[in-house]
Amino acid sequence: MPVSFRKQISLFQIISSVTIIFRVEYGSAKITSSFVRSEWPSVDIPLDNEAFAIPEGHNAPQQVRITQGDYDGKAVIISWVTPDEPGFNTVQYGKSDKKFDFTAVGTVTNYNFYKYKSGYIHHCLVDDLEYDTKYYYKIGDGDSSREFWFQTPPKVDPDAPYTFGIIGDLGQTYNSLSTLKHYMQSVGQTVLFVGDLSYADRYQYNDVGLRWDSWGRFIEQSAAYQPWIWSAGNHEIEYMPYMGEVLPFKSYLHRIATPYMASKSSNTLWYAVRRASAHIIVLSSYSPFVKYTPQWQWLREEFKRVDREKTPWLIVLMHSPIYNSNSAHCMEGESMRAAFESWFVHSRVDFVFAGHVHAYERSYRISNIHYNVSSGDRYPVPDKSAPVYITVGDGGNQEGLAGKNYWVSSYLQFIIRFLDPQPEYSAFREASYGHSTLEIKNRTHAFYHWNRNDDGKKVPTDSVVFRNQYWASNLRRRLKKYLKAES
Ligand SMILES: *[C@@H]1O[C@H](CO)[C@@H](O)[C@H](O)[C@H]1NC(C)=O
Ligand SMILES: *[C@@H]1O[C@H](CO)[C@@H](O)[C@H](O)[C@H]1NC(C)=O
Ligand SMILES: [Fe+2]
Repeated sequence: MPVSFRKQISLFQIISSVTIIFRVEYGSAKITSSFVRSEWPSVDIPLDNEAFAIPEGHNAPQQVRITQGDYDGKAVIISWVTPDEPGFNTVQYGKSDKKFDFTAVGTVTNYNFYKYKSGYIHHCLVDDLEYDTKYYYKIGDGDSSREFWFQTPPKVDPDAPYTFGIIGDLGQTYNSLSTLKHYMQSVGQTVLFVGDLSYADRYQYNDVGLRWDSWGRFIEQSAAYQPWIWSAGNHEIEYMPYMGEVLPFKSYLHRIATPYMASKSSNTLWYAVRRASAHIIVLSSYSPFVKYTPQWQWLREEFKRVDREKTPWLIVLMHSPIYNSNSAHCMEGESMRAAFESWFVHSRVDFVFAGHVHAYERSYRISNIHYNVSSGDRYPVPDKSAPVYITVGDGGNQEGLAGKNYWVSSYLQFIIRFLDPQPEYSAFREASYGHSTLEIKNRTHAFYHWNRNDDGKKVPTDSVVFRNQYWASNLRRRLKKYLKAES
């Protein structure tokens, strides 16, 4: 079949499917799910539990994880900790099992937190990889060496299908374990992590460092095999003057590597990557972002680098949500909304994923960008150019859930619950633990699910078919332009 004919058919397919999908995304029912989970204790798993098992052998590498290492997905950063001595700093890797043809050398760092001395934290960039390829890698030496594998993404391409998982506020409780296990049953290829990692800051003194280590061992079962794209939350700040620890993000900065320089960022806390058909922008809710600050200037430039002809799906990650109808953390995202919402709308961002509020919520496409101190306009209004805001702060941390069936937070010392009635902009909300998956099918369609942890089972609860914000509007004009460029 000639190429142009095939493309005409797909143009027809896209246009005919759009009407059906429209109903799905813009359905007007607001839902506050009445599901009441049977709560597992929101307590941290004890340190001697097998979830935190220490690998055998002298100085064996532990807390192994990977993240994307460049702008386009041809590199990974492999990180691990050796507990007793620096040990080998080399990653051996190759395209077939047990045949490690290549090596890469990393860096090593350590830090003190109160009287805790961290292990030796290794970060190793492995680059010049081939797309869409399975790589095996080995770290450590002799009896204590360990082997893992990962799959590189397809080349950046507007129709590259790819599935992301979205997890936030994970912690290290029995609920966290359930979320992680359920995510691993999903088809996710890369995790977008929306902040609040270990909740180690709920501990004091040397236990803070020990709980970072246990968390690193806990997530290894997933994070050693697929990239976790990191953003930082308030629990990473760890401003603890009573212990003499006042450098914000100290543990996070030592332990978590990001490819920030590849997107011309000056700080590991905000950066962007492109992966398959998605452009992912990571923001820091707890770093300066008002006008003229480095984060603000960087984001302005990064939006200019977004090319929807190459990466149709534009995703923003942050910790503190901009639209959320829970009384917990109410208005905390307001300052970032004031700074960036108009850019999100004008750039036609597809999704803004956040965490922080320990319940699930999805918004309709709404914006509130006409407000300024002198104008009277100050209500979110339906806006087809606006992103969908999704809060997935329900990974399973120790603080418990922010629910409709309200709950008294021992940590925050007040009662928190969903605001009643549900605001017009809120499409779906539920106070359960879980994770989301975003299955990008092609340039126009993505299937989205939020999966509740339901008594030990993974149950897709909120499912939506999303149309792309760039390709689904003016589709005919865009395709014409695209076909012209292709031929
Ligand atoms: C894109 O994916 C959707 C959902 O699977 C499908 O209905 C549509 O036909 C696809 N479009 C093209 C051009 O393949
Ligand atoms: C703020 O709102 C007023 C009244 O609508 C308008 O005249 C003014 O231009 C706005 N200012 C900015 C900076 O948008
Ligand atoms: Fe948080």
